[in-house]
This record gives sequence, structure tokens and C-alpha cells, in this order.
Amino acid sequence: MGRLIVVSNRVNAPTGAGEETVGGLAMALSAALREYSGLWFGWSGQTVPEFTGELHTQTVAGVTTATVDLEDADYDEYYNGYANKTLWPLFHYRSDLTAFDRAYGAGYERVNRRFAETLRPLIQRGDLIWIHDYHLIPIARELRRLGVTNKIGFFLHIPWPAHQLMTTLPGHRQLVEAMFEFDLVGFQTAEYRHAFEEYVLTEAGGDMPTEGHLRAFGRTVQIGAYPIGIDAENFARLRGSPRARRMHDIVGASTIFRQLIVGVDRLDYSKGLEERFLAFERFLADNPDLRRDVLMLQIAPVSREGVEAYQEIRSRLDALSGRINGEYSDIDTSPIRYVNRNYRRDELAGIYSVARVGLVTPLRDGMNLVAKEYVAAQDPADPGVLVLSRFAGAAGQLKEALLVNPNSPEEVADALKHALAMSRGERTRRWEALFDSVQRCDVTAWRDDFVGALKAVGEPAAMAS
Ligand code: G6P
Repeated sequence: MGRLIVVSNRVNAPTGAGEETVGGLAMALSAALREYSGLWFGWSGQTVPEFTGELHTQTVAGVTTATVDLEDADYDEYYNGYANKTLWPLFHYRSDLTAFDRAYGAGYERVNRRFAETLRPLIQRGDLIWIHDYHLIPIARELRRLGVTNKIGFFLHIPWPAHQLMTTLPGHRQLVEAMFEFDLVGFQTAEYRHAFEEYVLTEAGGDMPTEGHLRAFGRTVQIGAYPIGIDAENFARLRGSPRARRMHDIVGASTIFRQLIVGVDRLDYSKGLEERFLAFERFLADNPDLRRDVLMLQIAPVSREGVEAYQEIRSRLDALSGRINGEYSDIDTSPIRYVNRNYRRDELAGIYSVARVGLVTPLRDGMNLVAKEYVAAQDPADPGVLVLSRFAGAAGQLKEALLVNPNSPEEVADALKHALAMSRGERTRRWEALFDSVQRCDVTAWRDDFVGALKAVGEPAAMAS
């Protein structure tokens, strides 16, 4: 095959500093780019007063990246605007937070056009093009307009909303129509794939000529569910790294005589952090005898600070953690440790490995890789317990976790109690099944499944499947 071109809003290629600092997804994509001698294209993360289309190209550790600056208005209308104030909340079922603003829609279209125009000269015959996430839905249409006939695949990392919710978006039909310019569209789960199918069948007058194919707007697209994974072997190995061991010791020493409950999330309203704090407060209220035995560590690096909803959730969490600590602290203990900074992967592996409970309770999440990383970092001889929201895509695979409804403080508090009291035998039984799934469905399998399916689009076997 030709080269692989990966396109995403953020370009997280290796810095050459080592795999401990780069996420598993970036590692897997980079490995594919090395194998297929391709390139990774996207936004540089910088803004300039006026768009120039100038490419910044570099090759580090065998991976070539090509990035472009956006102009200030693009940042406001495309990134902060349509991507993060419209599509993100809507696709995470937060229509109350969804902004419908024509300027955002126009900025989104403009940036997708600009990306397509800048990328166009880099595309060669036979290249496979793999587009990532909600920022870039219209880019295939723009590339087709510019004469690109290469195979183009799209993977949506976040949920696809239920049909009725989708129709609340002005211009929903146009957005879905643009998805038919891809050859292959991948979702995280069968549920999201079905939601898309339902929209196409009932709203766009489409049909399903064969299983796995949808026809509408005069085109046929192949669709599938490709649940993303982590680099499980590597993450499990990181637990033994010097930084992980040091973290393990530091966190272990600061939680002596107590069991650690850990949460690690970008500070985002979809992660259910307020609900999680309230559930923990309920647990403390209901279990006075256990108050001195537990500590909840919530790591929540700030994110998307240019968007009001993120500023608001941050101040609500500041207040809530302060209130709970004020109520339940003693002279030598506080129940919540709330940290707004980022940690390296090897450090996280060490932190996860100390925690008796991994508390992962998003209100809605495409997949959630923290759940999988928590599992991979456990000591097989004495593993902790994963408490997982049933609304995370990962719940479809991690069935031996304690699955909870994150909206119910009682249910989450009960699950915490159950997890903390669970025998080593039961913890081990559950963990073995979880780790097996995390290992089998890792990020390399995900990448190879998707790229393999994209390569095969249009071939007789793909048509029949
Ligand atoms: C989610 C999205 C990614 C995004 C990431 C960080 O995981 O699916 O596309 O890059 O959040 O958000 P940010 O807005 O900082 O890129």
C-alpha cells in the first residue's frame, strides 16, 4: 500500500524524549506512521493574527509531522466554538451546554477547508488518509472537492448521540451528509454505530444495502465499531519503571493505614467529577467507621479554559472539594486530595498501582482509557477494583468491573463500599478477566483493524461482510 496520512486537530507525535511522556494512542499512530512512512497532519497548537497556510514540517524519531497555525478567529469559532461549545457538549448529551451560533458553524467549515487546502499538495496517489475526531467531520468533503480520490477513513473518538438529540443541531443533515464522503466511518462502540444507523435510516431516508454499509445522499459508506485500546503490555511494564516505583512509594507513604481511591480525568464536565465528589461525600456520611480508612485522590488537569463551562465546573469543584474536606477532615487527615496538574504516564502507572479502587465515573464517554490503564497497572498478585460508569464506552468490554450509574450517589457509594471490602480472591478473579480484555483489545489491534478495513474498502470481501 501507499503511505498512511493521519490527520487530527492535535498532533502528539513523539518528542524524542521517550515513550513515558507520550500517550498510548500517539505511540500506536507513530508506530504505524513509521511502518508506512507516512505523515501526521494537523494544527500546530499556535495561533497567528492571520492564516497563512505555512507548513511546519519536521521528522522526529522517524515520524514526520506537518502542522499549520490557525488564526485567532479560527481558534474562537472552530476550536473553542463549534468543536468545544457545540459538538462536544451535544455528543456528550449536554444539550443544556450546547451553543448554536452561526459564526461557529462558519468557522468550523472554514478551518476544515483550510486544512484540506493545506494538506492537498502533500497527498500522493495510493496514500491512505485517516481522519480523527469531531473537529474534522467535513474535511473529506473538502478534499473530494479538491479532487482527492484516495481512500479516506474517519474515526470518532467520542460518542455519537441518539437520533433525537442529533436532530437538535441546526445543520445536522449537512454534517451527516459530509460523513458520506468518507469510505469508512468507525465508532467506539456498537451503541454509537447503531445511533448513527438510526439517524441515517429514519432521518436521511437511507438504507443498508449490506450489513456494515449505509447508503444515503447518493453515496455508500462502510461503518463499523472499533473500540480503542491502550498499549497494555507497555503500560503494565511501566509499573516497574523507576519513576513509577518512586511514585508508588511516595503515594503509598502518604496513604499509610488508608486505602486509596483514585480518579484521573481531564477537568471536563463529561467526566462526572461533581457527581463523583458528591458520591464520595455520601459514602463518608453513610460510613462513619470507614472515614479514617480511605483517601480519594482526584487528579484533574485543567482543560479548554477558554470555554465558560470549563471555568464554571472548575470553580464548582474547588468549592465542593473544600466543603467536603472542611466537613470530614481531622487534624491529621483529609478525605479528598484534589490536584489540578498533569502527570507523566510512568508516574500515573505508579499511582494507579497503589490504589485499591480506580473510580472512573464519566456521565458519558466515548471509551475512557483511564479505566484500561488502571487495570493494566495493577499488581496481578494483589489487584485493585475498577468502579466504572456504565456510560463509558469501556463498560461494553470491561464487564467484570463494578458497573455503576454515575448519576446515583447511593449506587456509587455502595460500589465503593463493596470494592473496599472485596476479598483478594474476588479481586483477582475479576482483574484477570479485565486484564485479558485490555491486553487482547489493545491499541495496536485497534489500529490494525481500522487500517486493514480501510485498505480493504471496495474489495469484494469487504463488500460482502
Ligand atoms: C478528547 C478528544 C480529543 C482531544 C482531547 C483533549 O479525548 O476526543 O480529540 O484532543 O479530548 O482535548 P483538547 O481540546 O485539549 O484537544
